[in-house]
Amino acid sequence: MTLLYIFIALLAGLFALFLVSSELSGTLKLSLKSRIILGAMMGFGVIGVSIKAAVISYLTPSETLAMVSTSSRAVNSVRTDHSHIEPRGLSYRIDRESWRSLPVPKEELQDTDRIRKLIKLGERLFFDTRLSSSGSVSCASCHVIGLGGDDGKEVSTGIDGLKGDRNAPTVLNSSYLRRFFWDGRAASLEEQAKGPLVNPVEMGLRSLDQAVGIVSRDPVYVSGFKTLYSEDLNIDQIAKAIAAFERTLTTGLSPYDRFVNGDNQALSASELRGMQLFDEVGCRSCHEDPWFTVAGSSHTSPYRVFPVYQGSDLLERHDLTRDRGRNQSGVWRVPSLRNVAETAPYFHNGSVQSLKEAVQIMATVQRGWTVTREEEAPIRITRDQQGRPILKKDQSLGNQDVEDIVNFLKALSGDIPMITNPWR
Ligand code: HEC
Ligand code: HEC
Repeated sequence: MTLLYIFIALLAGLFALFLVSSELSGTLKLSLKSRIILGAMMGFGVIGVSIKAAVISYLTPSETLAMVSTSSRAVNSVRTDHSHIEPRGLSYRIDRESWRSLPVPKEELQDTDRIRKLIKLGERLFFDTRLSSSGSVSCASCHVIGLGGDDGKEVSTGIDGLKGDRNAPTVLNSSYLRRFFWDGRAASLEEQAKGPLVNPVEMGLRSLDQAVGIVSRDPVYVSGFKTLYSEDLNIDQIAKAIAAFERTLTTGLSPYDRFVNGDNQALSASELRGMQLFDEVGCRSCHEDPWFTVAGSSHTSPYRVFPVYQGSDLLERHDLTRDRGRNQSGVWRVPSLRNVAETAPYFHNGSVQSLKEAVQIMATVQRGWTVTREEEAPIRITRDQQGRPILKKDQSLGNQDVEDIVNFLKALSGDIPMITNPWR
């Protein structure tokens, strides 16, 4: 192909040269020698340009693109899946180098005998229903590990059938985060673990001392903690044990991680396209890899405004602006999107059932893109938070675009750890 271009370029160049030099030599009345020199100079110019063009066209399909196209599964399904849709001018150019996969888990985390004992105690506490005022609710009631670490409900039901205002987030992979709860009010898993015990609608204990009392009446806990700590049993030890257990609840590498680590077959064409769109639409700036949240690393704030753009009927429909998050300031901790396909329903109030709709909401209210939905007219955000009109051109997502992003999000799921209730 490249050779053909050079050949055509050369022919065209030589023809133009012939025209110009015969024209010029006529007007300038040049001798044969001068004509040959003039022709040679112009000829070298043309050859130089064609060589440059050839080299550029040879190098342009960048190495990263080449890597993706070597995935025969990806390329084939591009043809079958998407032959009927407008490919938005994306050629699946994924700069794989710029994406990060999960760091290799720290083996030493579970290495010492001490930590292993602490984890065992934490596991027993996590499933212990005696730690609630009704004797029927444990951490595992709302964080069902086998179901994705949450409870699949809009808002959780705690003691006596009482309901809170917020959806239960997953406990899986919480070891990667440095802020907890939707509004990020806890700075560590240890601090977080004390919250639900005394939350009136969750486990409903009168005080943390009551929790210590319950634990210190069980000989298994008492002897277990005694081998680990010299001081009397206290709430911090209990929290440390629960947190140590939670840190083991990681889901490991997902298809996304395998792709980033070099497996060309790990993602389908639709997932790759979704990955590209996830970046292009700007999801990645808040849901930053490898944790798919800015709350995973320490170089930036874990909080972001939600919603960035007002004026979408989707916000009202799902009552997403009543609760204003952190200090009622409209700011939330960015949730991780790892295993997000397993943790419906979505958002702080669990009001959105499908991942597809969650993506449509995010693209419009966080990025100001237009989303076209089959069933209704396009949703376009027209005003920013201050009510000023915003103008965005050609930033719209069709149905297939959203599907592709959803498929990419599904590829962020890893293997859920197999944990059995130690009380059964
Ligand atoms: C009645 C249901 C319920 C019970 C019981 C419960 N939780 Fe939760 N959990 C929730 C809800 C709801 C949230 C979110 C609350 C918020 O953000 O305001 C949450 C948040 C969390 C988070 C934060 C996750 C994140 O990404 O921010 C962790 C970790 C957690 N719970 C662990 C526990 C532990 C440990 C226990 C037992 C001591 C427990 N939960 C008991 C419902 C429950
Ligand atoms: C400006 C930051 C920001 C951007 C950009 C952003 N998000 Fe979010 N995302 C958030 C915040 C904050 C929340 C939590 C909102 C809430 O429930 O209060 C969230 C929630 C979500 C959820 C629900 C998670 C759950 O567990 O319920 C999904 C899914 C999601 N985002 C996907 C996306 C996608 C896809 C994009 C790109 C189209 C995107 N986000 C762009 C900040 C952002």
